[in-house]
Amino acid sequence: MKLSLILAGSLSIVAASFASQAFADGKALYLEKTCIACHGKDAKKPLTPEYPKLAGQNAKYAEKQMQDIKSGARANGNSAAMKGVMHLVSDEEIKEIAKYLSEIK
Ligand code: HEC
Repeated sequence: MKLSLILAGSLSIVAASFASQAFADGKALYLEKTCIACHGKDAKKPLTPEYPKLAGQNAKYAEKQMQDIKSGARANGNSAAMKGVMHLVSDEEIKEIAKYLSEIK
């Protein structure tokens, strides 16, 4: 409860800035589409060290990896764990999330 209030508060601060609109959308999607469960709150501390850190990753690369995991083209390592949730995100949403991930300092 407390955490969700803090998250909602920081989201609205980010959303208040026009320049950061895409950032806010990508972040909202990241939180909403279960990504946070495995990749951590700020994409910096994954659930286990076997899962990747995503913060600061190149947007183009992250976008491609998400599409490949979604389509099954990438099926190495632990990617099966993630494939199960990828029906939740469209190509447009994947783009927004990739942009957000690349902008995390
Ligand atoms: C059930 C756990 C789980 C969930 C939920 C999950 N992921 Fe992942 N994700 C993984 C794992 C595990 C990998 C690494 C797969 C491998 O070992 O090759 C991964 C890989 C990635 C990669 C590629 C990283 C790289 O360096 O190649 C990106 C980007 C990514 N996830 C983004 C997301 C986003 C965005 C969401 C939400 C829509 C999400 N993930 C939801 C577990 C998860």
